[in-house]
Amino acid sequence: SEIRDFIKKLPKAELHIHIEGSLEPELMFKLSKKNAIEIPFKSVEEIRLAYKFNNLQSFLDIYYAGAAVLITEEDFYDLTWAYLERCKENNVLHTEVFYDPQTHTNRGIDFDIVINGIHRALVDGKNKLGISSKLIMCFLRHLDEADAFTTLEQASSHLDKIVAVGLDSSEIGHPPSKFERVFEKAQSMGLLTVAHAGEEGPPAYIWEALDLLKVSRIDHGVRALEDEALVTKLITEKIPLTICPLSNIKLCVFKKMSEHNYRKLLKKGLVVTINSDDPAYFGGYINQNYIETAEALSLSKEELALSAKNSFIASFISDEQKKIYC
Ligand code: HPA
Ligand code: ZN
Repeated sequence: SEIRDFIKKLPKAELHIHIEGSLEPELMFKLSKKNAIEIPFKSVEEIRLAYKFNNLQSFLDIYYAGAAVLITEEDFYDLTWAYLERCKENNVLHTEVFYDPQTHTNRGIDFDIVINGIHRALVDGKNKLGISSKLIMCFLRHLDEADAFTTLEQASSHLDKIVAVGLDSSEIGHPPSKFERVFEKAQSMGLLTVAHAGEEGPPAYIWEALDLLKVSRIDHGVRALEDEALVTKLITEKIPLTICPLSNIKLCVFKKMSEHNYRKLLKKGLVVTINSDDPAYFGGYINQNYIETAEALSLSKEELALSAKNSFIASFISDEQKKIYC
């Protein structure tokens, strides 16, 4: 259709993608055999059929189990390279990639293996595909503060490869305040900060992310609409939200796409962006997210173009580069 073609041609930046969430069943199956790591599935079809989630936690359980097939630097390279090829197909010119070191270090994989594999693919992505990128290291919020401090310490010899720290995993019961001191330390090391907040958790968690963690962006943030004062702050301070529509449907944050509040947020003047979150698990890469949102909410071409423009404005590229893209 015309709107699909428009979306496909639109130059986009992606700001909310977990690299472990781009692990397609085919690669998971292949790596499970190569590395002799057992997964509870007999075939690629069986893996796909298992992707039915009721909430964030039911997804995370499967997502962490799947990530266990990643062992060598080459595995992390291949995972990242496969995602970059999807970026090319989706006309993503710039991507800011999350990764979760603790998912790997806590099962005995060296911190350096993970970051070196991902980083090498990102460098090749720039040189061979022309896709620019930044890497964001996320802390798993269900783990404790000390574990996050250990992870930050491991990152200290790789600061040239990381632009920011983030916060992901099980939101409810693990407020941003739990990581105030870790984020303060990360900032003292020259890193920017972002955090998942207001996906399943309340607006209070978005306030904490802003006031305590000093974040540049809120990841998800769809529950901000419940708090009028918060919406005003997000608008006046131009704090971007990285929204992941297909993720929100698959994890039952909204019952169906026609009930998603994306258009409402956009119309209020928030700097909202469309992203894929965990594309191998949620049914599509960034274009699929744009398409399904556009169709369900009747987004106009102007609204789609604004969403794409927002993605560059909200990115961590330099102001000079932003002028080129916008
Ligand atoms: N929320 C929290 N943690 C995550 C997500 C998410 O959407 N995706 C991968 N880890
Ligand atoms: Zn996410």
